[in-house]
Amino acid sequence: MSFHQINEADVQFFDSILSSSRVLRDEESLQRCASDQTEDLCFTPDLVLQPVSSEEVSAILRYCHAHQIAVTPRGAGTGLSGGALPVFGGIALDMRRMNRILQLDKRNLQVTTEPGVITQELQEYVKEHGLMYPPDPASKGSCFIGGNVAENSGGPRAVKYGVVKDYVLNLEVVLPDGTIIWTGANVLKNATGYNLTQLMVGSEGTLGVITKIVLRLIPAVTSDLLMLVPFRSAEQACEAVNAIFLAGITPSALEFMERDAIEWAMNYVQQSAVPLPPDIEAHLLIEVDGNETDLLYKQMEALSEIVSNYDIDEILFADSHEQKHMLWNLRRKVGEAVKSNSVYKEEDTVVPRAELPALLRQIKRIGAGYGFHSVCYGHAGDGNLHVNIVKQNMSDEDWEHKLPDGIRELFQEVKKLGGTLSGEHGIGWVQKNYMDIAFDEVQIRLMQGIKNLFDPHGILNPGKIFPGRK
Ligand code: LAC
Ligand code: ZN
Repeated sequence: MSFHQINEADVQFFDSILSSSRVLRDEESLQRCASDQTEDLCFTPDLVLQPVSSEEVSAILRYCHAHQIAVTPRGAGTGLSGGALPVFGGIALDMRRMNRILQLDKRNLQVTTEPGVITQELQEYVKEHGLMYPPDPASKGSCFIGGNVAENSGGPRAVKYGVVKDYVLNLEVVLPDGTIIWTGANVLKNATGYNLTQLMVGSEGTLGVITKIVLRLIPAVTSDLLMLVPFRSAEQACEAVNAIFLAGITPSALEFMERDAIEWAMNYVQQSAVPLPPDIEAHLLIEVDGNETDLLYKQMEALSEIVSNYDIDEILFADSHEQKHMLWNLRRKVGEAVKSNSVYKEEDTVVPRAELPALLRQIKRIGAGYGFHSVCYGHAGDGNLHVNIVKQNMSDEDWEHKLPDGIRELFQEVKKLGGTLSGEHGIGWVQKNYMDIAFDEVQIRLMQGIKNLFDPHGILNPGKIFPGRK
């Protein structure tokens, strides 16, 4: 694929439609948009544009469509599959200035927002009005809601409340040729034609640029209880996950952390807040929430009974707000902790929940065969395990040439277990060469056809999702 190299005439055009303070070429701005949270990958754009309105986005895309300029939309850059990397250079479309919450429709429990709003700020805003927007990716304190929609993000609470797609009702989208559309209607049910709204959710910035988002909200939940259960066998911890659901309990979070995950997170935040006897292999962090505290305590009792059927050490019940915060902070910091510890690759495997113990067994078996160490953690209640493969003592040669085969084998096992490549991080740049494991040629051709229909010149987030393309 070849793109037009941005020249002075192009810059002048962008200066004329945005104010020049939002057309950026200084090194700092270019470098800020050159990477996201995916490994240490870095692709420098030629220009950073910061639109403030749908009309500006439209004018930018119309021009880039006509001139064959690559455009990579960008939220807060917290992505883990390289979706925001401008791999062909060109324009980084930095959405940070479209950061207004536009309207809270309390009568209908809906909020309309621009994409550059920080997810946690949106959550706090609706909470002030007694409402809740549940999806809570680990990066919620810095990620943007627009990026969450583009990636169909999840997070711990997805196990009870669902992922981003379950809250998106309607979107304003600028198509690659500059046309502005709404994808649906602000309704809870919609059986009107193809579902363009959900086609955009999780499309990783390859079909259009999301400029307004209408989200469904729910009444805020008032209480939650949290416990941390140490298991002497990591596989048993995975078995306990399914037993909890079979017993009829749906926790509001059910997170798995291998020993290294919690230990590295404690080192990273410099807090040895959790006792970690040498024989503990993994923990489950289990939360229940609701409005009736009595009921929650009963659920905690039932959960304690279930996990007591396994080889566990003493359960830690978080009995204060501070302790809950401390435990959640540890959990949310695992990714960063691993990143700070070693060169790594992160896979976002997902299998039907009951296959979780088998998944963990396969990960460790493949790791032993290829000589890699893995740190597994994540949303066990969803069957969604983040597999961080850490380089540690692996030679550069093996890391570069042997590991991709190991990852391929891992995904093949995931597929055999009925799972797929990514539960919540997307395909982006780093997983696209494994798409042939998840899909056959017919499925890829259908997806490619959709991409070509939306973006016939291939300018929008090029190089992502589809295998075989540079
Ligand atoms: C988490 C991110 C990596 O669950 O998805 O911590
Ligand atoms: Zn996650």
